[in-house]
Amino acid sequence: MESQERLVEAIEALKREKNAIIMAHYYQRDEVQQIADRVGDSLALARYAATTDADMIVMCGVHFMGETAKILCPQKRVVVPGGTQAGCSLADSCPAPEFEKFIAEHPGHTVISYVNTSAPVKALTDIVVTSGNALKIVGSLPEDEKIIFGPDANLGGYINAVTGRQMVLWPGACHVHDRFSLQAILEMKKAHPGAKILVHPECKRPLQLVADKVGSTAALLDFARTDDAREYIVVTESGILFEMQKSCPEKVFLPAPAEDSECQCNQCEYMKLGTLEGVYEALLTGEPEITVDPEIAAAALRPIERMLELSK
Ligand code: 13P
Ligand code: SF4
Repeated sequence: MESQERLVEAIEALKREKNAIIMAHYYQRDEVQQIADRVGDSLALARYAATTDADMIVMCGVHFMGETAKILCPQKRVVVPGGTQAGCSLADSCPAPEFEKFIAEHPGHTVISYVNTSAPVKALTDIVVTSGNALKIVGSLPEDEKIIFGPDANLGGYINAVTGRQMVLWPGACHVHDRFSLQAILEMKKAHPGAKILVHPECKRPLQLVADKVGSTAALLDFARTDDAREYIVVTESGILFEMQKSCPEKVFLPAPAEDSECQCNQCEYMKLGTLEGVYEALLTGEPEITVDPEIAAAALRPIERMLELSK
């Protein structure tokens, strides 16, 4: 038997022994997505965490996803293969002390934070959103409500453009999505004129404007599943191609190049810290465990629950 097959069997056995569930984001390595019990976008992962009856959650994603699961299920053990190393440049672009000052400079504003934030930033927030529900949630608020949106300025700009709001934006960005090049994508489109362009809203506005579909990872997948084109240029982290190709084997998915086509800049190195070996270790040892200060967790729970309620 191949060593990878043996590893997968050992993971399955440990999972049963520990009554654990493995959840994976669409940007995880193919082999990790393959062994996961649940694969999803950030919103789906939060929903799965809120409803699971497992004792242990192995969250194959980045640190803030593990924190969200821990805040929703404080009594469960939550582990993230990769631990604190599995960060997120977008979450890091918004340190809580600076965000607190920003909020103080804008009195009377409702604070909406993208789920890609640390627990202390969520604790300062009124409503958490993901790219899967941000339009719906912002759209459900009174039109004259003053809003601060952080930390992703590209997603915030997209919501402002679509809803006509003027949310005050924190100037944060994701290093992967911010690097996609419009020129490279237009050249690709010239070579594949029939291809539709799928863009994550963390990309810059000019890329959003040339897209056939802008949406969360799950929304882009749904679009590809139900649309009638044969080819797609996929402008988000390349891990999503695994599920796209699996769902639509007859279609062609072309990963969009970033500004330097030689680099692997369309990959999130933090997401790629999730490995089969890491999942095995996490199940065996219960480490690296995600912990959140109980006071911060209590304050962060309210805006996450509000999100789950408003996006039903
Ligand atoms: P989704 O919520 O679309 O899965 O995106 C998460 C993320 O980290 C995008 O970079
Ligand atoms: Fe964060 Fe960007 Fe990686 Fe998503 S792709 S987890 S936003 S660094």
